Amino acid sequence: MYDFKPAADADLGEVYRDLCAAADALTAGEPDAVANMANVAALLWEFLPDLNWAGFYRVGPAKDGGADELVLGPFVGRPACIRIPFGKGVCGTAAESRAAQLVEDVHAFPGHIACDSASASELVVPVLRDGAVIAVIDLDSPTPARFTEADAEGVTALAALLSDRV
Ligand code: SME
Repeated sequence: MYDFKPAADADLGEVYRDLCAAADALTAGEPDAVANMANVAALLWEFLPDLNWAGFYRVGPAKDGGADELVLGPFVGRPACIRIPFGKGVCGTAAESRAAQLVEDVHAFPGHIACDSASASELVVPVLRDGAVIAVIDLDSPTPARFTEADAEGVTALAALLSDRV
């Protein structure tokens, strides 16, 4: 059994260090990207309070063979939109810019894609390999301004760890 629940009084830096250590232990030596993303989505859900969605979009070909886009990957939460073009919504903006998007109020973000009407704030971090985006990690919360720069740093460290594992 895996039991990674952090202590209630743990500080955020410690939570993300423990989360990365757990993700490292679960994905080391496992070549199946879907299995690794599934376990990391579960870890995000378990470690971070006040989320309503946590998971991955992967970069993949469009259905018509057109330009690459984001395709829904393993996640915890309500069913979500399957395909997001680069540059669209918070996820597509993170993928296109290759920069984390920390959104305090999703309703104020131009082009935000509402997959769950409960979402109020969002953090999306690109996963890069050799400088190219291969996926994004998406976290949604029902609480406005739920995420801070410390969350962006922690999830960015997680994304770096996963660069050759997803
Ligand atoms: N809100 C995202 C779409 C994905 S869902 O939040 C799971 C966006 O604007 O890209």
